[in-house]
Amino acid sequence: MKLQMVDVVGQYQHIKPEVDAAVRRVLDSGQFINGPDVGELECSIAGYLGMKFAAGCASGTDALQIAMMALGIGPGDEVITTPFTFVATAETIGLLGAKPVYVDIDPVTFNIDPRRIEAAISPRTKAIIPVHLYGHPADMDPILALAQKHGLRVIEDAAQALGASYRGKRVCSFGDIGCISFFPSKNLGAFGDGGMIVTNDQALDGRMRMICAHGSKVRYYHEILGVNSRLDTLQAAILRVKAPHLDAWNAARRNAAERYTDLLRGAPLTPPSVQPHCEHIFHQYTLRVPRRDELAAYLKERAIPHAIYYPVPLHLQQAFSMSGGRKGDFPVTEAAAAEVLSLPMHTELTEEHLVIITDAIKTFYAAR
Ligand SMILES: Cc1ncc(COP(=O)(O)O)c(C=O)c1O
Repeated sequence: MKLQMVDVVGQYQHIKPEVDAAVRRVLDSGQFINGPDVGELECSIAGYLGMKFAAGCASGTDALQIAMMALGIGPGDEVITTPFTFVATAETIGLLGAKPVYVDIDPVTFNIDPRRIEAAISPRTKAIIPVHLYGHPADMDPILALAQKHGLRVIEDAAQALGASYRGKRVCSFGDIGCISFFPSKNLGAFGDGGMIVTNDQALDGRMRMICAHGSKVRYYHEILGVNSRLDTLQAAILRVKAPHLDAWNAARRNAAERYTDLLRGAPLTPPSVQPHCEHIFHQYTLRVPRRDELAAYLKERAIPHAIYYPVPLHLQQAFSMSGGRKGDFPVTEAAAAEVLSLPMHTELTEEHLVIITDAIKTFYAAR
């Protein structure tokens, strides 16, 4: 049996006739750019999130960059975020000439620790980007309270968390702007790159749409500098087939996560925990484990897939060396980076898969 970290092909097999028909329909229409599927998907995602506006774009990374461009973030500005995230969160801040200012994480949820944010706010701070890492919502109430107190914007990086909720409301609906990724391995994944930017602010939506289209509302008349960032009609058509399954797929991930935790009971490791007011959608099932690198090598020898998200915190990445980050700056993040290990997580996991994976982990610890 071949175990896989993600199984996009297996999932496709269940919905193949509908996906193939949607693809064929777009191919026959010739409307590869801005076809009707894009607007339809935007409406359905906005509705799903309880938001007024959603605009497709080319990736989750673009969603973050376009959100910040629309808020006028640029050189001299600071944006507060977590150092324990995928590089895109801070890369886009840097690309706009602004400075990512990191705040250490909460050791339990791995998300930005709201208790540490206020100390990082300066007169140059423009926005906070909480990341709902692994599919677990960041603690939004205190973040929103601080943003309001200091007049800051909030951009939610929900690339890993579409469908997760915090106090009964879906993430993406708390900040000024929410950013979504449809990267194939995401809980709602396209068959290529894709992203979406959501907001309740009509003016911001208009500005983001303009930025996506080279800064123009009317073709060949450019009001501001923009980029070329569109969600392909083909991807939108595929996502329209997949979107109605999202809640069931998220539930399947939650069930698999519960089984992992049950099966691993007794092993000396810390399973992911879900805060009482949160619904986790388990984009990743991430443990904190002792002797992580030894365990990873042991699993590799046995062809058991696993991954480390993320081995190097952003303040220690070479690409951000100009910011002068040093080891020891964010000890909770650095400890997490040394201890986390993610197990296969997707909608096609079976009891047999889960038993093989967890038996290997238990055997590793029993033998030592
Ligand atoms: C937390 C986070 N932010 C942003 C992104 C960027 O999304 P994309 O790959 O669609 O550009 C990702 C995707 O991997 C992510 O995990």
